[in-house]
Parts: sequence; C-alpha cells; structure tokens
Amino acid sequence: QGTIKVNEKNHLEIGSCDTVELASKFGTPLYVIDETLFRQNCRAYYQAFTKEYGAEVIYASKTLINLAICTMVEQEGLSLDVVSGGELYTAAKARFPMQRVYFHGNNKSREELRLALEYRVGRMVVDNLHELTLLNALAGEMNVKAHIMLRLSPGVEAHTHEYIKTGQIDSKFGFVIENGMAMEAVKSCLQLDNIVLKGFHCHIGSQIFELESYVHAADVMMNFVQEAYRQTGVLVKELNLGGGFGIYYFQGDQPRSIKEYADILLAAVKDKAAEYNVPVPKVMVEPGRSIAGPAGITLYTVGSIKDIPDIRKYVSVDGGMVDNPRPALYKSKYEACVANRMRGELIEKVSIAGKCCESGDMLIWDIELPVVKTGDIVAVFSTGAYNYSMSMNYNRLPRPAMVLVQEGKADLIVRREDYADLLRHDLLPERLRSSV
Ligand code: LLP
Repeated sequence: QGTIKVNEKNHLEIGSCDTVELASKFGTPLYVIDETLFRQNCRAYYQAFTKEYGAEVIYASKTLINLAICTMVEQEGLSLDVVSGGELYTAAKARFPMQRVYFHGNNKSREELRLALEYRVGRMVVDNLHELTLLNALAGEMNVKAHIMLRLSPGVEAHTHEYIKTGQIDSKFGFVIENGMAMEAVKSCLQLDNIVLKGFHCHIGSQIFELESYVHAADVMMNFVQEAYRQTGVLVKELNLGGGFGIYYFQGDQPRSIKEYADILLAAVKDKAAEYNVPVPKVMVEPGRSIAGPAGITLYTVGSIKDIPDIRKYVSVDGGMVDNPRPALYKSKYEACVANRMRGELIEKVSIAGKCCESGDMLIWDIELPVVKTGDIVAVFSTGAYNYSMSMNYNRLPRPAMVLVQEGKADLIVRREDYADLLRHDLLPERLRSSV
C-alpha cells in the first residue's frame, strides 16, 4: 500500500522521497504524510460507500487535522466531523463547506454552539439534554433552525481497548436506548421550535476488526428508527453509524477491506429496514484512523544507547510520548525500521525509548532491527492517526514539523515549534519581576 519502499541506497523511501534526506532537511522528529496514500484511502471510502451506495463519508478530524489535511479531505469529496471550536475554526479557515460539517462532542460550550450556528454547519450531533435545550435557545436567539442528529448509545460492545470503546451503556456519550433516555430525547426534540431532528448517530468504538459489531449496531439503531416512528410519528431519514474501522499496526492485526466494510454495513441497514418495515435511511460513516493512520510515518534520530547486558538495550530517540502518546496511553504496538539501513547483516533486539523524564515513555518494546547506532534514523510506521493530534509539550519539548510528500516533492505543512512558541502564552506578573 502507498509509496513506501526501499531505494537503491538501502534507505526507506516514501512518496519517492528519501527519508534520510527528509530527516536532514526538515530535522527530527518529523511527521511524514504520504499524500498519495491519504488520498487513496479517501477514494477507497468514496468509491465503496458514496459511489456504490450513496452513503456519506465523514472524515473524523480528531484523527489528524490542519489546513492541508482539511483541504485534501474537501478535494476528495468527503464531509468532516469536528468535535471542538478549534477543529471547527480550522475547517472554516481551510474554507471547508460548512454544509458538509458535523459537529460532535459530549460537552460543547455555549460559545462553540454559537460559532457552529453562525457558520451554519450542516448537522449538530446532539449528545445530551443539556445541549439540546441550550442549542434550541441559542438557535432561537439567532433566528435559525438547528438541524440535528441525536447521538445514541446502542449498548453494543466492541472488542477494543477500554478507553476507546464508546458504544456500551456505561459511557459518557449519548442517549441510552435501553433505559428510554433516547426515546425521551426524540420526544423533547418535537417540543422544541428551533430543533429539526434529521437522524440518529452512534459510534461503537475505534480500531475495530469485527464487522459483526457494526451489524449489531445497525440492527439496534434500525430497531430504534422504527420504534421512534411508532411512538412519536417521526421517521428519520439519516443514520450515522460512526467510525472505528481498524488498521494494521502490528502482527496479528487483520483489517478487512473498506469495500467489505461498506458492503456488510449497507446490507445490514437494508436488511434491517426491511425487517422493521421502515424505509432505508441515508447512511453515514465517520472514518478517521483508517484514512490517516497508514498514510503517516514518524522519523526520529537515535541518540544515546544503553546496553544492560543480558537484560535489555535501550535505544533513545529524540521524540517519544510527546509526539506519540499511544504506547504510553493504550499500550499500542508499532512497527519500525532503521531508515538509513533498511537491510542489515546483523539483527539485534532493542527497545526504543522516548526522551521524556518517565520510564513509561517507551515507543516500542523488544523489536528486532539491524544493529542500531547513534545518529541512525528510526522510522515508526502508521503514525498518521492520533499522533500529531494528541501530541503535547511535556518537558517543554517543541512539537515536531509535518511534511506532505508526493512524487519526490516534500512540502512543510506544519512548522516545527521553537522555544519561543513554548513561551507564547507565558506571562510574568510585575510583582515577580521586581522581587529579585
Ligand atoms: N466518530 C466519532 C463519534 C468518534 O468518537 C470517533 C473516534 C470517530 C468517528 C473516528 O474513529 P476512527 O475511525 O478514527 O476509529 N485516541 C484513540 C482513538 C480515539 C477515538 C475517538 N473517537 C487512539 O489513539 O486510539
């Protein structure tokens, strides 16, 4: 997949760019995004869902967003899911058509809701009653109607990490179907003058491989579409089944194809529509990881190497949990290579450590690599999703730059932070200045 290969110098190449040259030109750590693969993934979704079934594909911007990414998503004809004023603002600055924006979140502020109404975003995905009431009042003040979907909690357990499961009943997200909260919410919508209920939404989790979980969710949701119709006379025409399609990170991960995902999901919705005797709704999906994840790699430079004989060899790189918090947060596993020596005679087992002051800052435990030396460039694969977007400045480390590569061209799309950026918001009160 994509444009990742080994070149004649025995270096890793991506988008026909030599990663060793990228590292020396842009510095490390460096996020590298393969434009071809990012677009290919968008197109695979567009083809499988939109062209084939008229379903809408909504890119989840929490995965990875900035002006360049947002522009590509727009060009590929996908819609956009945003979860904060900041993501919304990014979309607006990238001139993303607001009609194709879906605004999510379990605790949107008054200001965020107002901004979304001002921008006229296509759909607000309402998570709770507090939000519903607030939105109705704001829309009234602004003399507009809010077109909404209700986020429901379908009680479907996906087999994934505890922190990224979302569809189960005991969750902070959405109206629970099972205990009647969801039906109450539908009834509330009917009482509110400025709310137009367009559909229902659910999201059962992330990094999901079992498509059966989606079939189960589609079943529960379609059953609810019918129940809502029976009890309130409201027949919604839109059904958003969220994101979560898993990708390959590490041996054992076996994702299905995007086409299979589409075929199985759409067949389930159609079958259930027939079973519950309601029209087939317009279906939406919200992929993030499966578009951006495989399209990114991160380049690091190796610094200190600590060999504890018979125990472990720690290879420290110039980034770590600050640019990729996933191993520390979720024990996520990644694959990596030595980008300047792709094939080496001697292979050794090492552990790749970050540079933060805590023992948990390990990117990869026990990986076999060609003997690693100080100054080598290590590339970690599939870092396009939830790396940059979850990066931080712990230990006052500046965030890395990001380049977009394609056909031998490499363009900076996020500038590397410098020390001045770290002080950008610091203020020194007068009384502290005079005290020394
Ligand atoms: N839609 C909703 C409502 C979501 O909450 C999410 C992800 C998505 C779509 C996109 O899911 P995806 O296709 O990317 O799996 N930080 C975690 C993942 C958190 C996912 C949160 N919601 C990680 O690094 O694994």
